[in-house]
Amino acid sequence: MSIGSGPAAGFRSLEGMDGADSPSSPSAVATTTVCVTGATGYIGSWLVRSLLRRGYNVHATARDTGKASRLLSTFSGNSGLKIFRSDLNEEGSFDEAVKGCLAVFHVAASMEFNVPVEENIEDHVRSKITEPAVRGTLNVLQACSRAGSVKRIVFTSSISTITAKDDKGEWRELVDESSVTPINGVWNTKPRGWVYILSKLLTEEKAFQFAKEKCIDLVSIIPPTVAGPFLTTDVPASVQVLLSPVTGDPNLYPILVSVHSRLGSIPLVHIEDICNAHIFLMEQQGAEGKFLCSVGSSTLPQLTDLLSLEYPYFSSERFAKGFHNAIPPVISSKRLTNLGFKFKYGVKDIIEQSVACCIKNGFLKCPITEGINN
Ligand SMILES: NC(=O)c1ccc[n+]([C@@H]2O[C@H](COP(=O)([O-])OP(=O)(O)OC[C@H]3O[C@@H](n4cnc5c(N)ncnc54)[C@H](OP(=O)(O)O)[C@@H]3O)[C@@H](O)[C@H]2O)c1
Repeated sequence: MSIGSGPAAGFRSLEGMDGADSPSSPSAVATTTVCVTGATGYIGSWLVRSLLRRGYNVHATARDTGKASRLLSTFSGNSGLKIFRSDLNEEGSFDEAVKGCLAVFHVAASMEFNVPVEENIEDHVRSKITEPAVRGTLNVLQACSRAGSVKRIVFTSSISTITAKDDKGEWRELVDESSVTPINGVWNTKPRGWVYILSKLLTEEKAFQFAKEKCIDLVSIIPPTVAGPFLTTDVPASVQVLLSPVTGDPNLYPILVSVHSRLGSIPLVHIEDICNAHIFLMEQQGAEGKFLCSVGSSTLPQLTDLLSLEYPYFSSERFAKGFHNAIPPVISSKRLTNLGFKFKYGVKDIIEQSVACCIKNGFLKCPITEGINN
């Protein structure tokens, strides 16, 4: 089932839009229904709002429909919203949600990666984490296959599937969708975050395999660290990781260091841009395969300098040492931009808006009420 070579039926081209997450004429897409899995999450909730603003009807899936309703029903355009209870771990759980949808955004993923230290750690990870993650994704894809209406699936992958080191351990000059982290290497070396890396690598691989077998049109979007403002009541994990030099969180800062050691820098994308890119890839008939979606990146010293500019309580001095000064590999999103996608926000905007939203939410102390800037 292919979308074909012209504009996909029912999809509106993004051409002529300002690229923003702005309300658009509901009539253009009024009859188009799409499904978003993981609608209570950081990306999922923003994506639902972006789609509703553009006039799509949205089937939003959540494990907890009460949580989803509190979060999503405040969005404008919510007359086009339906919430479905679906769990990746329950077979057939997505069938109702996907029924009648032209496209499905498979955003949901379990973020539980605690692994007890035990002898059979690999067996444990296989049976309790990676196999259920793959089954969960196949669960969604099988629902799409059964529905018969789904013309495209956009799968949310992760830059953890990508490495800037070649098979000799040397830095590549350019990193793109082909710079895939080797699965065996992850099993053998178990770098920090290895369970998440494996989970995303294996689910993406199986998703493409299943889609090929069933002739389903699937594209994968590869986000780096996503940050900026958020709609969820909790501060999203990725925003917390980005701000970990400021908060000094001993569990999250090492994640930033590990991204830096795998990619040579911290690639970033704004939440609005990653959601626009999801929609763009749904609507672009020519899209196929994988698409990295990073607007730019900062080395850790550059990132901490930017954070200290935005947040006066924070001094970057102690972070500047210990990281290489070499020019980091270029993380290329050319496949996406060559197709016509335009980013709206740069690295500085992302950091500025993440800090502002965390001050507003109370996660970071407010410099004005605390006396700074007075
Ligand atoms: N944020 C980033 O920087 C980033 C970067 C690269 C890739 N990604 C990918 O983007 C996707 C969304 O990430 P996020 O940052 O939005 O994470 P998030 O805020 O933790 O959202 C995860 C979503 O998945 C849902 N979920 C978890 N387990 C589930 C299950 N068993 N059945 C159904 N739904 C389940 C969660 O529902 P509950 O609310 O019920 O927990 C939540 O809605 C993930 O696939 C992630 O790997 C994110």
